[in-house]
Amino acid sequence: MISFSLQIRWGGGIIRCVMARINEHFLKLQAGYLFPEIGRRVAAFAAAHPEQAGQIIRCGIGDVTEPLPPVAIGAMHKAVDDQAARETFHGYGPEQGYDWLREAIAQVSYRDRGVEVLPDEIYVSDGAKCDTGNIVDIFARGENVIAVPDPVYPVYVDTNVMAGNTGKAQADGAYEGLLYLPCTPENGFVPEPPKEHADLVYLCFPNNPTGAVATREQLQAWVDYALANDAILLYDGAYEAFITEPGIPSSIFCIPGARRCAIEFRSFSKQGGFTGVRCGYIVIPHELRAKDADGNDVAVEKLWSRRHTTKFNGASYIVQRGAAALFTPEGLQQTQALIDHYLGNAKLLSEACRSVGLRVWGGTNAPYVWVQTPDGMGSWDFFDKMLGEAHVVITPGAGFGAHGEGFFRISAFNSRENVVEVCRRITELLG
Ligand code: MLT
Repeated sequence: MISFSLQIRWGGGIIRCVMARINEHFLKLQAGYLFPEIGRRVAAFAAAHPEQAGQIIRCGIGDVTEPLPPVAIGAMHKAVDDQAARETFHGYGPEQGYDWLREAIAQVSYRDRGVEVLPDEIYVSDGAKCDTGNIVDIFARGENVIAVPDPVYPVYVDTNVMAGNTGKAQADGAYEGLLYLPCTPENGFVPEPPKEHADLVYLCFPNNPTGAVATREQLQAWVDYALANDAILLYDGAYEAFITEPGIPSSIFCIPGARRCAIEFRSFSKQGGFTGVRCGYIVIPHELRAKDADGNDVAVEKLWSRRHTTKFNGASYIVQRGAAALFTPEGLQQTQALIDHYLGNAKLLSEACRSVGLRVWGGTNAPYVWVQTPDGMGSWDFFDKMLGEAHVVITPGAGFGAHGEGFFRISAFNSRENVVEVCRRITELLG
């Protein structure tokens, strides 16, 4: 191993300092993280065209725009007041989350729908982005075959790059060492289990970025694959609340056998408008096992619990009170109204794109509309066209992976007024 050192004279002697070394895997990452990169380009455009800056409408990052459900606001106000009196004050809470929130999640999100999940299988956090990124900590570095859909939420790929689980990026942006699962119009953007063996498989339904959902049969095929391969499915269900089609499973744990092969990630960001509040959770069934270096079974929950309690001090009491309020009957009604609003936007955006002859997917069970670029345009070129000519920010499909090239994503998280205006501009630009 090469080591770098500096020699410093100190008090008549010489001290040898070994310089701090970085995690070289970070140098493999390409450009910036997708959404800050989009933000940078939009800021550069606005600086260069100040007269048009005020007209820009952002449909890039999936960030909610509508005020929080009143029940969550009321519960958080009350929780702030709790902190003002010795009798009701809360300091550090349990790292895994307060029992009353874990109970509410298990009951309303799972048991009421006939899905078996226990409160102590739930670990509350500050969001699904952190959880999907942090999960790599508990798996062996560089020793698992990791499968990722393409296009995909970039966090899954980038965090594996950072952890040293991949080789270098190739010309098309794909990393050596990952097993990519192409998602295309031909497979409805739902990949089939591969012929090859994988140890860890990332899945996300309803999908970000394509808005696709998987049927019970498709998810059963993945569970069967995982059980046959001793693999673990890392199932991102952050958009579950947007499912409208009857029969589409709300959780991977709706599928028999999934408790032995899956971890589920969930979030209040999109369900309750909590992107700025921060709260999510992960479900790890007691039965889930993985192997140590000697081939012995280890309960995955034990490792995650150790990690979570060591590196995280719990989501804030105030935030958890807000999240728990979403599970009351009033809370459920109010979150449904939010979701209906965003799905109404998605419908308008889908119709506008179809009306100018574009091919459109998603938007029915998800807040994302996935669209093929006109005339085979590159997705970053189309991003520039939309920004420059319509002053609308979209997300270029290539930012989600090589198979996203030739597509773009429109986020339906916006006010109705902005969405109506975006639809008008799309029709004007492309009609
Ligand atoms: C997205 O736009 O893909 C999401 O907002 C990103 C996220 O949830 O972190």
